Amino acid sequence: MAKYLVTGAAGFIGSSLVRALLERGEQVRGIDNFSTGRRENVAEVLGRMDFREADILDLDAMHKACAGVDYVLHEAAIPSVPKSLLDPLGSNRANVDGTVNVLIAARDAKVKRVVFAASSSAYGDTPTLPKHEAMHASPISPYAVAKLASELYMVSFFRCYGLETVCLRYFNIFGPRQDPTSAYSGVLAKFSMQMLHGEQPTIFGDGETSRDFTYIDNAVSANLLACSAPPAECAGRVFNCATGRRITLNETFHALKELTGYRGGVKYAPERGGDIKHSLADITQAQTHLGYKVLVNFEDGLRRTVEWYKRQGKAVGA
Ligand code: UD1
Repeated sequence: MAKYLVTGAAGFIGSSLVRALLERGEQVRGIDNFSTGRRENVAEVLGRMDFREADILDLDAMHKACAGVDYVLHEAAIPSVPKSLLDPLGSNRANVDGTVNVLIAARDAKVKRVVFAASSSAYGDTPTLPKHEAMHASPISPYAVAKLASELYMVSFFRCYGLETVCLRYFNIFGPRQDPTSAYSGVLAKFSMQMLHGEQPTIFGDGETSRDFTYIDNAVSANLLACSAPPAECAGRVFNCATGRRITLNETFHALKELTGYRGGVKYAPERGGDIKHSLADITQAQTHLGYKVLVNFEDGLRRTVEWYKRQGKAVGA
């Protein structure tokens, strides 16, 4: 049994990692400052973990959180492209300064390995598809720059201090517990909820924008593999975490129409600043070095997600 620290433990991805670790019988500590994380995401597992309300910008709290820990899964972030356009400094603080704090605390506590929630947005508008890790990064939004800077810090801490770090470039992770209620919510969470409520969704652009939408179970499995893979295969390296298939926004709308029973149409609005047009991953590196496999495809993932939102709706009497 190992001890894991999950930062952003009350977030969508963090709380899914916490559950998976607890199911495996691991010891879990989690921190969150609830800036984007939600108390209801951890409410039912609070009794089985060591949860602390803390901010990754608080170095002292991070030192305490890392004490005795074997693996850190660093998910805490302000995970939004549009938010970073409105507040680049805030994005940089949470997404870069916060990461450096986590790294310093992990280094000082002699943590075995840090796995980082990096982002496919780092590829930016490079025209080549699929995106592979050896490609030159070309981030557009301040958010993408921050995530890329944090990746470089991860690699730097491995090279300078020997702290084992692994970066997983997430490609649009979706699934249960992703917050659908904010203007900055991930598109599938937002559309699922809107369409279940009979509200018209808005597609920014012509709908041919595409993403390698990746169901949460795949990301959870990538994190667990990134902890257990031999250092020679993964330390100081960056891996795409995706499915290797891209779906357009128009296609997501039609798939969700079937699943939600929504009868209305969709509204089109101008493209959002900082967005990239297409995103598709080459997942060969993760398959080769981490033993990663796509466990749940887009269709099954979307079905599970909509079922979950439906159950939530029933639970609150909506
Ligand atoms: C997402 C993640 C980001 C992550 C990146 C790569 C969220 C909120 N953002 O960014 O943290 O690093 O993937 O994994 O999960 N759109 C609409 N209508 C809407 C909302 C969005 O058309 O109501 C469009 C956007 O303009 C964009 C696409 O859907 O073209 C995807 O947007 P979004 O879900 O916000 O994700 P990314 O910006 O790709």
